[in-house]
Amino acid sequence: MIPILDLKTQYDQLRDEIAAAIQGVLESGAFVLGPDVKALEQEVADYCRCRHGVGVASGTDALRLSLAALEIGAGDEVITTPFTFVATANTISHSGARPVFVDIDPLTYNLDPALVAAAVTPATKAIVPVHLYGQPAEMDAIMAIAEQHGLAVIEDAAQAIGAEYQGRRAGSIGHVGCLSFYPTKNLGAYGDAGMVVTNDAVLADKLDVLRRQGGKTKYFHQVLGFNSRLDTMQAAVLRVKLRYLERWQEARRAAARRYTELLAASGAPVVTPHVRPDVRHVYHQYTIRAPQRDALAQHLQQRGVGTMIYYPLPLHLQGLYRDLGMAGGSLPHAEAAGHEVLSLPMFPELSAAQQEEIVAAIAEFYR
Ligand SMILES: Cc1ncc(COP(=O)(O)O)c(C=O)c1O
Repeated sequence: MIPILDLKTQYDQLRDEIAAAIQGVLESGAFVLGPDVKALEQEVADYCRCRHGVGVASGTDALRLSLAALEIGAGDEVITTPFTFVATANTISHSGARPVFVDIDPLTYNLDPALVAAAVTPATKAIVPVHLYGQPAEMDAIMAIAEQHGLAVIEDAAQAIGAEYQGRRAGSIGHVGCLSFYPTKNLGAYGDAGMVVTNDAVLADKLDVLRRQGGKTKYFHQVLGFNSRLDTMQAAVLRVKLRYLERWQEARRAAARRYTELLAASGAPVVTPHVRPDVRHVYHQYTIRAPQRDALAQHLQQRGVGTMIYYPLPLHLQGLYRDLGMAGGSLPHAEAAGHEVLSLPMFPELSAAQQEEIVAAIAEFYR
């Protein structure tokens, strides 16, 4: 069996270092916002080439607190993509604002900037681009629209830590960048964790207050806050893993190159990822478009190859967003992607032999 993701092999390699890191936290007794959290915030900010990092409980909370820090709420509109994980949009809804879904570029699966520009109204307050699968969205065009209309840009970089757009790291381009350390992410904790990175010291300070119940000093509260702190135990684990992250990113990129070469040589009628020339893709997922996608997935399952569909139903068509009144066919590129995409096994330890086996099984299906 070749799983879509194998976390155990990586853990086996890190076992002693992880045990020592967790032991250190247990001995220190500093379980909430301990020294490892502060150290990790600086290390992740440095990795993202950003000035500040604020550790929070999850990637979802990174988005939720960012919206709150930017004072986005009832009556506001926030433009985003429908082809993403639900948290990109449900955090907008929780803020009281309305998500405005616009279609994607069918080549990259990321927001189409021309459609973003066309969707701006006097109520628009922010844009939330998602760097899907680990490839940055077209940030120059998005930042230009934001500047023209005075909008905030919240990068959903949950899948894209370490990705680069014209040499700048994901998360460092907009006003804030939201990271997820969910266990399956390129930098994954052993539980939920997330971080907001920003170059804006005032926003960083607001986020720090928001995550600790809205006050700097215990039992004194200036604003309506949250309890959303990055757990020290997870921070200690993440500090160990961060030291390996570049090695893992390069292994993912090498595996992606190998997939693309093998698939091209196999003659299988699938579309391999389109990578923009000015980005560094970090392949959180290696996602193809495949004719007869569901039958292919079933065939691969029978051959012992795990796959996943990220994401089968775009958000504008979810029951959750029935009230937006968007009919099927309204965002055709996102809807077509939902029917055609398939993510193949991708993790740093994936071997060349495993990839050959996967591609052979794909070629066999189309023969
Ligand atoms: C694009 C995107 N946004 C937001 C999130 C939410 O992150 P988390 O699961 O850490 O809350 C995820 C990951 O799950 C994601 O993939």
